[in-house]
Amino acid sequence: MRKKLLIGNWKMNKLPNDGAKFAKECSALTLLAKEHDIEIGVAPTFIALTAVVSNAPEGLIVSSQNVNEHDHGAYTGEVSASMLREIGVTHAIIGHSERREYEGETSLRCHEKIVALLKEGLVPVYCCGESLATFEAGETSSFVAKQIREAFTGLTASEASKVVIAYEPIWAIGTGKSASAEIAETTIKGIRDVLRSMFGETAEEIRILYGGSVKPNNIRAYMACPDVDGALVGGASLEIDSYKALLEGMIA
Ligand code: 13P
Repeated sequence: MRKKLLIGNWKMNKLPNDGAKFAKECSALTLLAKEHDIEIGVAPTFIALTAVVSNAPEGLIVSSQNVNEHDHGAYTGEVSASMLREIGVTHAIIGHSERREYEGETSLRCHEKIVALLKEGLVPVYCCGESLATFEAGETSSFVAKQIREAFTGLTASEASKVVIAYEPIWAIGTGKSASAEIAETTIKGIRDVLRSMFGETAEEIRILYGGSVKPNNIRAYMACPDVDGALVGGASLEIDSYKALLEGMIA
């Protein structure tokens, strides 16, 4: 049975103090999530991670939004998995479409990041998803399958089972134009088929989230899909009331 997961990706929002305040306000939420066997977390910017970890109630996952694949060295501006582990971060988002688009992050580089994170015992949250042009050309499944194969090739089944995938169609991110639950389920089921061809039955253990304009009023529909294991949420995760409503939507 795959545990449901809700992660709020704050992107480049919230100062450390705002993050600390938000974390403190999560104590009732983490209890509610635990009661329903759901994992919840937030992904602040690098500079807010320590403030959020220090103020997080038990059970609140704190994730970074990126990591470097090297452990240390001359990589100006970068942060390694061992550094994240040291400050109490347990998850790291990698391969987000905004980083692919603006920072040239590739699926092959994400493979290196997955290896680095697993070595430190951190959970990679690997994002994939197609552009509007790819979607309209009907090439979503082959495009996403390639992203999955490039990042997962070389992992053992046991390693693969520890990775969380987030399917985020680029055309649905921050646009208010979410993919229908049917599209999310079809693509995510397709991702699981690719994982099955690579890792056999272990594919049933790998959690795959949907992301892209998830709101309190549509999260229920995604959670009703058998292959959708949770959500990676941007805009609607920034306010505590809305974040709470997302969790409640996952429970209902
Ligand atoms: P929105 O929920 O704002 O569309 O962002 C989705 C996202 O990119 C989460 O990583």
